[in-house]
Order: sequence, then C-alpha cells, then structure tokens
Amino acid sequence: MLQLKQLTKRRTTMTNISNNYLNLSDGNKMPQQGFGVYKITDQAEFDQAIESAWNHGYRLFDTAQMYKNEQNLGDSLKKLNVPRDEMFITTKISEANQGYDGSINSLKESLKKLQMDYVDLLLIHWPINTDFFETWRAFEDIKKSGLAKSIGVSNYDMVHLQYLATQAHEMPVINQIEVSPLMSQKPMLKFNAENNIITQAWSPLGRGKVLNHPTILAVAKDTGKSTAQVILRWHLQNGIAIIPKSIHDERIAQNADIYDFELSTLQMEQMDSVNTNHRVSKEPELVYEFGEQYPY
Ligand code: A2P
Repeated sequence: MLQLKQLTKRRTTMTNISNNYLNLSDGNKMPQQGFGVYKITDQAEFDQAIESAWNHGYRLFDTAQMYKNEQNLGDSLKKLNVPRDEMFITTKISEANQGYDGSINSLKESLKKLQMDYVDLLLIHWPINTDFFETWRAFEDIKKSGLAKSIGVSNYDMVHLQYLATQAHEMPVINQIEVSPLMSQKPMLKFNAENNIITQAWSPLGRGKVLNHPTILAVAKDTGKSTAQVILRWHLQNGIAIIPKSIHDERIAQNADIYDFELSTLQMEQMDSVNTNHRVSKEPELVYEFGEQYPY
C-alpha cells in the first residue's frame, strides 16, 4: 500500500509538458514548451491541431500578425471552451505596425481576432531601424495597461538588445530567435541568459530539415527516441523554450513526449557538432536595415 502511494506521488510530481514552466524576469511564468502555428491557415486543420495540442498538454500557443491566422487561433481556442487563465497566448507586432500608435492600435485589432482581453506575451517580430525606441515605449505602456502580461522581442541580435538597453525602462523578458541544430546560436543563448532574457526557439526542428541528419539519427538510435524528440530534448537541456509546429496528431503527441529521458553530455556534444550557422529565414541585420522593404 505504501509503495503504491509513493508511486502515485512520484507520478503526479513528474515533469511533463503541462507543468514545466520557466520563470520570467518580470515575475510571470511561461511554459517551456509551446505550440507554433506558423503556416497553418485552414480552419479545419487549425481546429484539429489545437484540440490535439491541448489534449497532449500544450498550454502555450504562439501566433503573429504576420502569420495572418490570429482569427483562426481565436476561433479554435474558443471551441475548446477552456478557461483563459489556463492558456498562455503569444502574438507579435509586424514591421508595418511598429511605432507607438501602430503597436497599440494593431494589438487591439489582434485581441479582437483572438477574442481575448489580453495576451500573455507580446513580441516585436523583427528589429527595424524606424521607430526603434517608440515601439518599445508602446510595449512598456501596453504592459502597464494590462493588454499584455509580459513583453519581449524576436529576432534581436546582441547589438539590438544593447541599443535598446540605452533607453528602455524595462528590458524584454524573452528573445524569440531561430535556434535549431543547424543554427545553434550558442553566443546568443549565452548573451540572453547573462541578461536575464529567456531564449525561445522558433522552428526548433529547423522546419523539419534536420530530421534525417546522420549524427541526429545516431543519437536517436542510442536513446530509442525519434530525431524530432532528441532535437527538442537538446533544446530543453540547453535551458531554452521551444514552440515546435505540426498539424499531425501523432507528431504533436511525439513532440510533447520528451520528459522521460535525458541526453548524456556526450550526446549533447554530438548534437552541438551539427551546427553550420545555417538560417532557414532572414538575417536580422538586413531586416533592421531595410525594414518592410526586405522580402519574406
Ligand atoms: P507537419 O506539420 O506536416 O507535421 P519547426 O517547428 O522547426 O518549424 O518544424 C516544423 C516542420 O517539422 C513541419 O514541416 C512539420 O510537419 C515537421 N514536424 C514537426 N514535428 C515532426 C515530427 N515529430 N516528425 C517529423 N516531422 C515533424
């Protein structure tokens, strides 16, 4: 009987996707693992993916004005009929909407589409050299007004964060950047950590392009897990947050099932060795320079 009690207790306290939170420097908490919805636009596909993600324990959902699917996400979440405070919702202000008024007005539009009174996390999607400080001033005021619980940035390099620090009253709590085995960003991860900024990896699976890499296949074979699972585990053990995307129930489940194994120091080093500094998307410096003119 005692044994059974102990076993039950151990089970209930085991870390899993739903109870694994990171502390943000503003005092709020954020799930370390969430669900990215980039490129999902079909409502039926959306409903299915969000329901599946919720059932497999995902609580963080990450969208952006640029994805043009905030309304879809809002509709899908509404159908789940779950309390707002059990979800963690992120959106991002696009380049065209930056500036003081643009940020505030477009956030209000986003909230209408999401059918919510606030977002848990609001990010500047990319750094641009126009209205650089005014946009952040709007973010600080948005946080004060309660329309966003936490504020952060995305795709900021060290130089952008250092520049922001010269005028910010409070610094971003998150920097969401491209991190994958092909783009491991170790110096950026270190810089963010040293400045109490949580790194959140977008496209943590490198948009699926590294899933057949021989080194990762070897680590997967050693652990008895899939390549997607060992990649996501590598991110967690690097202490960063992740938002993998999939529209398939089985993969959504698989990607959440990464809390019952650990990569050894050697396996972590093997994963690190895959890096080639290859980006799947844009170079932040160029976006900063050319802003909206820079093509997607
Ligand atoms: P799909 O949505 O068809 O499942 P990232 O999050 O790095 O952007 O990667 C997303 C890509 O990886 C998508 O193409 C997604 O395809 C694919 N993907 C996500 N999870 C898995 C998985 N567990 N196994 C194989 N492919 C996956």
